[in-house]
Amino acid sequence: MSDADLDVHRSTAEATRALREDVREGLSAPQKWLPSKWFYDAAGSVLFERITELPEYYPTRAEREVLRREAAQVATITGARTLVELGSGSSEKTRLLLDALSAHGTLAEFVPLDVSESALAGAAAAIATAYPQLTVRGVVGDFTEHLGLLPGVPPRLVAFLGGTIGNFLPTDRAKFLHSVRDVLGVGEWLLLGTDLVKDEQTLVQAYDDAAGVTAEFNRNVLRVVNTLLGADFDPAAFDHVSYWDAHNEWIEMRLRARTDARVRIPGAGMEVTFAAGEYVRTEISAKFRPEGVRAELTEAGFAVEQWWTDAQGRFGMSLSRAID
Ligand code: AVJ
Repeated sequence: MSDADLDVHRSTAEATRALREDVREGLSAPQKWLPSKWFYDAAGSVLFERITELPEYYPTRAEREVLRREAAQVATITGARTLVELGSGSSEKTRLLLDALSAHGTLAEFVPLDVSESALAGAAAAIATAYPQLTVRGVVGDFTEHLGLLPGVPPRLVAFLGGTIGNFLPTDRAKFLHSVRDVLGVGEWLLLGTDLVKDEQTLVQAYDDAAGVTAEFNRNVLRVVNTLLGADFDPAAFDHVSYWDAHNEWIEMRLRARTDARVRIPGAGMEVTFAAGEYVRTEISAKFRPEGVRAELTEAGFAVEQWWTDAQGRFGMSLSRAID
């Protein structure tokens, strides 16, 4: 018997098909783009874990501060029997929630869902060992596609941490919040981490660290396209860019071609040309205002019961109940 069950809703073949579609659409657009979920193969997931420890990347520490302070409150308010974590990655911060919910005596199941099978398998096994009384059922999948498949005894608490909701474009974000509301019963819960708008320098540096880890994380998407679609991107020929879009209030990560370039992508049946200076948008990471978070959650069918931030007001966490 394995330490933890893993439901794999996405084989490599399916991932390759999905990437092919995304590459065809994104790299044939006048403004080239790729979805940020493709950063997270095994190497990319490790790079992201290193990002969370960088001095410039404050969101992880700020969110952990809030969770340390408020996890017991979350347990008391929700009485959750299942914790579902979307985009769980290493599930490191999740232990604060698992500890509080276990101490409260209600928790029976943990359901981490992530696109990265390697990150999920390790995390699910470690948590199954550390919390032997808990049923751990990992789901390998894309939370934009596989939400309807979430198991667990109610009341469930869905945690979507780290500010990953900022990776959606606003219209997709609204759809996503509605789909989370749809899979929950009235009285179930959403714990949502949202990075907050702040000064431009802090934001830009959080996505452009001095050690260059974020640059390598960004370039990793090209390696993923090379591996899965047989492309011949030269990652070193692209500069990492972190740009604050003050109008949309999001950070954009870009990969900017240093020179004119032609890239073959046999697995997508394409050849893509770049002019020197042309860039691919690889991620948006939206930053929020408290009143905006509240409005979006209300619109999606949630009642916001709690709003917390770290002491410096950098990162927000909302606890919301699904309502009629
Ligand atoms: C994991 C999606 C929350 O948007 O801040 C970190 C990913 N990108 N550095 C974020 C990321 C560049 C991160 N999330």
